Amino acid sequence: MSIAFFDSGIGGLTVMHEAVRRLPDEDFIFFADTLHVPYGPKTKEQVTEYVCESAERILGESIKALVIACNTATSAAATELRRTYAVPVIGMEPAVKPAVEMNGASGQRVLVLATELTLSQAKYRELVTRVDDQGIVDSLPMPELVGYCERLNFDPAELGDYFNRQFASFDLSRYGTIVLGCTHYPYYAKLLESLLPPHIRVIDGSAGTVRRVARILDERGFAGGGSGRVRFMNSADDPAYNLKLEQAWAVLNHEM
Ligand code: DGL
Repeated sequence: MSIAFFDSGIGGLTVMHEAVRRLPDEDFIFFADTLHVPYGPKTKEQVTEYVCESAERILGESIKALVIACNTATSAAATELRRTYAVPVIGMEPAVKPAVEMNGASGQRVLVLATELTLSQAKYRELVTRVDDQGIVDSLPMPELVGYCERLNFDPAELGDYFNRQFASFDLSRYGTIVLGCTHYPYYAKLLESLLPPHIRVIDGSAGTVRRVARILDERGFAGGGSGRVRFMNSADDPAYNLKLEQAWAVLNHEM
């Protein structure tokens, strides 16, 4: 049985990449909802419908856990998935809590980058209200970034211009941490680190999510039994998109 990772597109590979490194005795399936990427500009109802359709397909495979390697899909549909399916469902949320803990003492600010849908959800607002008692968290949607990423555009000059435009109205000297709250964004983590003032840390939720996956598999006695095999699937059954997943996977294996 495999651990399934799900995202709208190539973003969730950044989480699965961490899982493959940490959990060598597991096998993996990655399913991208190619038909409906990007989720960020869509409504919660649309995304919930697409995620449930994809989950039906994924559950046709032999899987022991379903990781929603997508902050947007988690905020829209994790509750619905857990209500519907018996398989363990592990979701993601922007790493706001660790970021606040890193900056609470110094009073430096935290900037959360995520899709417009993630940032507009009550789930996100409640998370910030719960952990940010000093009011140090700001949020910035990056609507074009998923598109750049899905086109496998990692051009440092073009993306550097894009990021500089997005950050133009922020006084970055006041920020201590940038949270990548969308699983597509870590493809640009190194570029961001090279553009931002050196004191700013860039973090994401992959490691925490993979720790949670490992714990849940252990608790249920489901851990192990695999050998690091990885299989790619997509909702359009499009071989060209599976090739894109392989290319993106190679980028991660090469760079991270
Ligand atoms: N990778 C997704 C996330 O973590 C969503 C990207 C999208 O489809 O807009 O939020």
